[in-house]
Amino acid sequence: MKGVILAGGLGTRLYPLTKATNKHLLPVYDQCMIHYPIANLLGAGIDQILVVTGGPHAGDFIRVLGTGKDLGVKHLEYGYQEGEGGIAEALEVAEDFAEGQSVFVVLGDNFTDADLGPAARGFKEGAHLFLKEVPDPRDYGVAVFDESDTSRIVAIEEKPKAPKSKYAVTGFYIYDSRAFDYIRRSEPSARGELEITTVNNFYIADGLMTWSKLDGLWLDCGSFDSLFEANRIVAETRQGGDARFSQRPPTDPA
Ligand code: G1P
Repeated sequence: MKGVILAGGLGTRLYPLTKATNKHLLPVYDQCMIHYPIANLLGAGIDQILVVTGGPHAGDFIRVLGTGKDLGVKHLEYGYQEGEGGIAEALEVAEDFAEGQSVFVVLGDNFTDADLGPAARGFKEGAHLFLKEVPDPRDYGVAVFDESDTSRIVAIEEKPKAPKSKYAVTGFYIYDSRAFDYIRRSEPSARGELEITTVNNFYIADGLMTWSKLDGLWLDCGSFDSLFEANRIVAETRQGGDARFSQRPPTDPA
């Protein structure tokens, strides 16, 4: 299984910080934001990683990450998304890199201390979502469950005004190679983007979706408050001698 980190976008919600660099290179305490999803993937045994970026500061990633070797990444590649066509369009850039294998996709601003290894190792085919129960899920993709079988997802609704559950879709996904066909079949949403939620709904309609609860804390660092909160959490864990959020040594790929 290979890893794909989606790290594009203009980061307009974090202006003026993102006038000078890409959102995913902003600091979360003593590392850049993107170092954390890289550590998540390495912790799951995935050490071949594609970073898909875009926008005016894409070159900054090479200065920060280089070959990735000193982080423990065996093979680091970069992809470039032209324009702002959405998360699913960014993922399409990864098709050649994937070479028909399954991919563990992470949105580069998502922050967790969960161990993603068991799901990566247990994955066979289709797609897998990681859900997190949150008090107000309206800013996210939200799972809709079958009324007679509450473990079965029947759809994902993107940023619904009246969410049908409290379960947000986090930015961690596992996909088999069908994802690229589904992306090609996707139509742009009302905001003119190819949504990852559309891809997930194709998998659900074809009975190919599994899910688990994200077993750990979860933040999407795309706002000032959540970015500050991630900084605070890492500072506290470091000062308390807690080993979470430090680079984990790579293990055997699944
Ligand atoms: C994206 C997805 C959404 C998901 C969220 C997780 O939203 O579209 O389904 O719940 O990431 O961070 P965005 O934050 O790009 O608006």
